Amino acid sequence: MYMDTAPEVDRHALSPEHAETIRASLPAVGANIEEIARLFYRTMFAEHPGLLANTFNRGNQRSGEQQKALAASVATFAAMLVDTSAPSPVELLTRIGHKHVSLGITEDQYQIVHDNLFQAIGEVLGDAVTPQVAEAWDRVYWIMAGVLVGFEKGLYDSAGVRDGDVFVPARLAAREQLTGSVMKYAFEAAGFARTQPGQYTSLGVQLPDGARQLRQYSLIEWDDRGFSVAVQRDGEVSSHLQDHVRESDTIEATLPAGHLVLHQFTSPIVTVSQGIGSTPMAGMLVALIRRLDAEQGAASRPEHPITVLHADASESDYAFRDLAEAVTSRLQAPLVTAFRDQDQRLDLRALAEDGTLPAGAQWYLCGGNAFLRDIRDQLEEHKTRLFPAEVHFELFSPNDWLLR
Ligand SMILES: Cc1cc2nc3c(=O)[nH]c(=O)nc-3n(C[C@H](O)[C@H](O)[C@H](O)COP(=O)(O)OP(=O)(O)OC[C@H]3O[C@@H](n4cnc5c(N)ncnc54)[C@H](O)[C@@H]3O)c2cc1C
Ligand code: HEM
Repeated sequence: MYMDTAPEVDRHALSPEHAETIRASLPAVGANIEEIARLFYRTMFAEHPGLLANTFNRGNQRSGEQQKALAASVATFAAMLVDTSAPSPVELLTRIGHKHVSLGITEDQYQIVHDNLFQAIGEVLGDAVTPQVAEAWDRVYWIMAGVLVGFEKGLYDSAGVRDGDVFVPARLAAREQLTGSVMKYAFEAAGFARTQPGQYTSLGVQLPDGARQLRQYSLIEWDDRGFSVAVQRDGEVSSHLQDHVRESDTIEATLPAGHLVLHQFTSPIVTVSQGIGSTPMAGMLVALIRRLDAEQGAASRPEHPITVLHADASESDYAFRDLAEAVTSRLQAPLVTAFRDQDQRLDLRALAEDGTLPAGAQWYLCGGNAFLRDIRDQLEEHKTRLFPAEVHFELFSPNDWLLR
């Protein structure tokens, strides 16, 4: 599922009266929003236990990451509606919309979220929620929900499926151990031929306690017969895949989604990954090679330079080292690695000075939060040398930090 168009947001959608009420109540709501989000999820899951078992990621609920992400997104959206100088939430909404369609979320569920969210707001803020305050926040919620529902319907349409109808059976055809902790899986499944490089699928497995838990995995290869992913052993779903899913077993997958997509090669490209964050980059490199082969034959090179940077715990932990080496040597492109056990670090200043990094590139980043912050800070520090055209992020956990 993919669209070139972004979610449409009317920054003047609130009436002046509602905007005034939001401005006045934003500090109180903002200060309590994480508590509101915690209570919201608790009451919603008590009323709808199936949502926690089968739709939401219960690992993210345990860690509290999803509560923070929801709270930050609502507060950011409200601030944008009442302050025209606030940053645009389009990137945020795009990310949420893709995550929702990758889980088959439908319009009717927005009422459930609404009712539980507003019950939580009332309980946490008490008398501060006057009828005017409730009405104005209700409006904010439905404006945001309207934008998301419209965008999500467009994504479902782009795949030609009914809203929410994204689950397909995926039969395991082959497994391959890439590193001590990373296993590659090739699945037979329908609906992946039009995947965009960088997109992911949600894999669903039935766990011993009966829950059907879903997790996202970036697509490495795809065609009309299926797809492959690489999974690092971590918590319950990745361990279940490695320990219990064998060749010929069938699990659930959802149609490809995700907005960190490499769809043009009209400027230099730098990919920067860390650890298992190399998976979306692997999908991009595979797509690039396929595209060059299809367009111009095996001897061709892209018009613009590609640079691949990767950081990992050690050389043997880099799951896509062979692929990256094959692609970069074919393209005569730089591959720069930094391994922690060798005390190496990706130093953008040094790489810019020695001519490894092109100016004016599109940057694609994926890795842990601390790593991404470090790369983002280095890019900011050396922007007058590197002039990044755009910096795109993929994150493997719900996030609110990119908003700050
Ligand atoms: C867009 C996207 C693409 C992704 N692509 C890939 C990919 O290509 N390959 C890949 O391997 N992963 C990828 N991921 C990550 C993947 O979706 C899962 O998050 C990952 O596999 C962990 O899921 P899990 O069920 O194994 O762990 P979970 O059970 O969800 O646990 C996650 C982490 O939290 C810890 N944890 C759980 N409960 C607690 C607790 N109570 N207290 C403290 N810590 C706790 C676990 O130990 C674990 O480290 C991607 C994620 C996203 C969002
Ligand atoms: C206006 C309403 C909503 C807002 C503002 C919202 C916001 C968010 C945000 C910020 C994320 C995290 C995205 C990320 O960083 O990965 C998310 C994920 C998610 N949302 Fe929503 N959402 C809304 C409605 C809904 C509805 C109606 C459902 C269905 C019950 C839903 C289910 C989910 C699920 C299952 C996830 C993934 C959770 C996880 O992986 O931990 N959301 N949403």
